[in-house]
Amino acid sequence: MKRKRWMTLGIFLLTLVMVFSITGCGDTPANEENNNNENVNGENGEEVPEETSDIPEYGNYVGSDACQGCHSAEYEAWQGTWHSVSMQTPDMLYDDIFNGNLEDGITWNDLSEGLGNPIMIDEDEPSGIAGTKDFVVQGTEVNDVDGVYIYHLGDREFEARFTAEDGEILHTVDVEVFGHGNKRRATNFTNIYDGGGNYLLKYQVRYDRDGGNWSQTLDGEPTGGVWADRNDVRRWDDNCGGCHATGLNVPANLENPDLIATELVADMAVGCEACHGPGGDHAADPMNEDLIVSFSDMTTKQQNDACEQCHTRTTANKHFDPEVRWGDAYGFLPGDNLEDHVEFILPTWGEEWRRVSADGKGRGWHQWGFDLQLGPKADWACIDCHSVHGANDEGQQFREYGSSPEVIVTMEESCAPCHEGVYDTKESIREVMDGRRGWDDEPEFSGRAMQHTFRLDDEGRVIGLPEEEWPEENNWPWLIE
Ligand code: HEC
Ligand code: HEC
Ligand code: HEC
Ligand code: HEC
Ligand code: HEC
Ligand code: HEC
Repeated sequence: MKRKRWMTLGIFLLTLVMVFSITGCGDTPANEENNNNENVNGENGEEVPEETSDIPEYGNYVGSDACQGCHSAEYEAWQGTWHSVSMQTPDMLYDDIFNGNLEDGITWNDLSEGLGNPIMIDEDEPSGIAGTKDFVVQGTEVNDVDGVYIYHLGDREFEARFTAEDGEILHTVDVEVFGHGNKRRATNFTNIYDGGGNYLLKYQVRYDRDGGNWSQTLDGEPTGGVWADRNDVRRWDDNCGGCHATGLNVPANLENPDLIATELVADMAVGCEACHGPGGDHAADPMNEDLIVSFSDMTTKQQNDACEQCHTRTTANKHFDPEVRWGDAYGFLPGDNLEDHVEFILPTWGEEWRRVSADGKGRGWHQWGFDLQLGPKADWACIDCHSVHGANDEGQQFREYGSSPEVIVTMEESCAPCHEGVYDTKESIREVMDGRRGWDDEPEFSGRAMQHTFRLDDEGRVIGLPEEEWPEENNWPWLIE
């Protein structure tokens, strides 16, 4: 792929390397309680050392395009799924911009008016923005920087502006923008060629998939337009790339933090190799069956782990210093035991609001695996219900239960064979998965839509474990020996 380098201005060094870790996926409104793993490191300009020992080797990834020639049917089917569009590459974004249409009317002009990315965070400040900082930018000291904002200059050009408190621009540097998400929310990032990695640009929009309206949250609440995620300062390489792209090359990144996103991954998407493992050796020697992972050779637990390497919520990656890097499951390969690579977030049975609380029910996104294991479908695989090689006409990924190879169906059709007359309409299925319903008296314990426990209490509310089954030990029941 031809990619233009926007900046060849030599080394732009942020002595201030900030790693603002936050659970999972950037869906935490500022007023919600975050988990206890938030860290802001290197605040005073010290280098943050990265753990370099015991880091698993990087596999022989080649990217999905290398599979297309021999597996064109699977490739085309995969292209119909959300996995293939988990990222907006710089080229995709620029195309949107040139077409004057970044999803339903939001243009980059909206973004350049006042939106930017303050990269200095002070959790004690209501604005989230700390006082001023000093940087060394391209060898020059830039003092009293109040924020760093990304501006669209027009055409394919963006720049990062280092500004003083009064808005005066102290320094500028060219950057490249890429993003996450196409379905409901989008987050954009910048490649700052600075030796500090790829940074989150504070900009998110939420999309109501039923209404097709970019100005509503997932839960249908109006956001008043673009929702700018002002309090986010995250390094994409450490916090996001492992789940939204495939084959994030962590060792290469440690060696050369200058690499930009497209240079760091095998695919700017959840590609074939995220589920089938690194495929370079297989592509070179396809008849050797040991060189690629097939789901039909896996146990249910292994199948689910392969999905949950991304679709679950963790607090540490066991191969790294958790102070520095922990958000993904780097080191995990399909077929592995996920617990060998990550620590899961712990439940707080019957206690205060947390991502997992009260009855152990998942309260946030990314917890389908936990949810599922608390209910009557604990021994099910994600792929008993979900298709991964194709989506239906509504853009949803559902398969006919038990079909092999997978037969794509509607959501209703996936439940109907066993629950006809009960869970066979969109309304009835979404009702039984709506973790918010019926908790009006205890709103702090209510969950989110699309909970996967498939378990209801006497009042018909979605729950995890009933109180009499809460384990004494603060851990997931299946992890208690
Ligand atoms: C040069 C052609 C070629 C390329 C390139 C190739 N494959 Fe294959 N692949 C094959 C052939 C042939 C088989 C069937 C081998 C067999 O039946 O034992 C196969 C089998 C598979 C299987 C099923 C294995 C099983 O045990 O049933 C998977 C999964 C797979 N390939 C994935 C991939 C992925 C992912 C890539 C890209 C990284 C890829 N392949 C690239 C030719 C190729
Ligand atoms: C542990 C894996 C993981 C990590 C780390 C992760 N994500 Fe995600 N993200 C997911 C999964 C899985 C989904 C899709 C399911 C969902 O909606 O939660 C998703 C969905 C999203 C979406 C919505 C996409 C759409 O089309 O609607 C956005 C935006 C997003 N993530 C941004 C981020 C950002 C920003 C970061 C880093 C700060 C991040 N994610 C880190 C796994 C992850
Ligand atoms: C490398 C990380 C990764 C792996 C592995 C992965 N997913 Fe995903 N998945 C994502 C991300 C990221 C998205 C969101 C894509 C988007 O919309 O931007 C997603 C989206 C989905 C969706 C679409 C959800 C919707 O909003 O309709 C389903 C269903 C899904 N994944 C199921 C699975 C299953 C089942 C597996 C295992 C066979 C799996 N995923 C493996 C990261 C992953
Ligand atoms: C019993 C069937 C079933 C199983 C098993 C199942 N799901 Fe789902 N999943 C659903 C249904 C139904 C929905 C709701 C879709 C909707 O309302 O549009 C859903 C929604 C989702 C979504 C989209 C959520 C969103 O916010 O759009 C993701 C991602 C997902 N499931 C991932 C998984 C993963 C990962 C597993 C395995 C740990 C799994 N599912 C197991 C039935 C299932
Ligand atoms: C989200 C995970 C995921 C992704 C991404 C994915 N696959 Fe698969 N793949 C699966 C699962 C699960 C099956 C088994 C589906 C079934 O039961 O029919 C499968 C089946 C296959 C098969 C049939 C042989 C077998 O193993 O059962 C081939 C070949 C294959 N995939 C190749 C690819 C290629 C090539 C890509 C990328 C273009 C790709 N897959 C992307 C999960 C994935
Ligand atoms: C292959 C058959 C099968 C399919 C497909 C299936 N289920 Fe189930 N479901 C069961 C069985 C069996 C039970 C366990 C009944 C029990 O333990 O009382 C169950 C239990 C449930 C329960 C808890 C008991 C109840 O009736 O309230 C819910 C909720 C549920 N399923 C929802 C769904 C939804 C939603 C889907 C589709 C996404 C689905 N199921 C798909 C077989 C199935």
